[in-house]
Amino acid sequence: MKKKLFITRKFPTHIVEPLQEFYEISQWDEEEIVIPRDKLLAAVSDCEVLWVTIADLVDEELLTHAPNLKLVTNLAVGYNNIDVKALRKQGIMATNTPGVLTNTTADLVFGLLLATARRIPESERYLREGKWKSWYPMQLVGKDVSGATIGIIGMGRIGQAVARRAKGFDMKILYNNRRRRHEAEEMYGFQYVSLEDLLKQSDFVVIMTPYNNDTEGLIGEHELALMKEDAVLINASRGGIIDEVALYDVLKNGKLWAAGLDVFEQEPIAMDHPLLTLPNVVALPHIGSASLETRTAMLMLNVKALTAYGQGKAISNRID
Ligand code: GLV
Repeated sequence: MKKKLFITRKFPTHIVEPLQEFYEISQWDEEEIVIPRDKLLAAVSDCEVLWVTIADLVDEELLTHAPNLKLVTNLAVGYNNIDVKALRKQGIMATNTPGVLTNTTADLVFGLLLATARRIPESERYLREGKWKSWYPMQLVGKDVSGATIGIIGMGRIGQAVARRAKGFDMKILYNNRRRRHEAEEMYGFQYVSLEDLLKQSDFVVIMTPYNNDTEGLIGEHELALMKEDAVLINASRGGIIDEVALYDVLKNGKLWAAGLDVFEQEPIAMDHPLLTLPNVVALPHIGSASLETRTAMLMLNVKALTAYGQGKAISNRID
């Protein structure tokens, strides 16, 4: 008998179909709309395998509705949507998608950094709104990226890929991480500093750390106050790492120059969120890994795990 697989979103048919060899598949048939919680809880009641996105919370409550669950595969490298401890207690495996999105996400981070520093979205709005009447010296002036100091919080795969890009811009590279990256320090000249020094010295602070109990609210009022008034904060990790109320205050009151945000505490962000009223915020809808090649590679990494499980083989990219 085939195993039961439930997919919480409509994924491309050519990617899902081959899995029919191993699975009886059912799926939430919407591409853009998140499955409502009650429907998800009902859908998992008889499934052995669950394929989710970051919008789906796999927590203790869900597990009580899923007595046959053995494997959860997550279409993301970050897995804060999954209660890994609760899964482990019940011997349920989980997988994610590391590696394949590193460069794509680092490209987006750098794009966001440049867009924020050089006020690119604001300048485009200015042109389209018919405000461009003449050229003048201080028109839409931004901040130089080349030669500036970047401070990267979280020097994992993506953090290092951001740092390599920063090197191409002749930036001084500071970083803070749970553990030192001696090899990368030697190879690329990254400099390890305390979080406090990083915040005090950097022109651009980039958050690349995973979101967990240790990093929730890591950048709050106190940390923002340590930053230079003309610094830029970039976040493409998870919104909950920054206290958004404190961030709004410093941006509004000229205590921080700008922020580039691909992630928010609540996603999608509410259209009346105060941060969206500020011209010095560049806001994106969580598109870090969104290239066709990379999203396909992420899906295929999930397929690889699902195929291995279907064949009774060892599963790679386990996070449990
Ligand atoms: C996206 O945010 C991911 O974690 O892959």
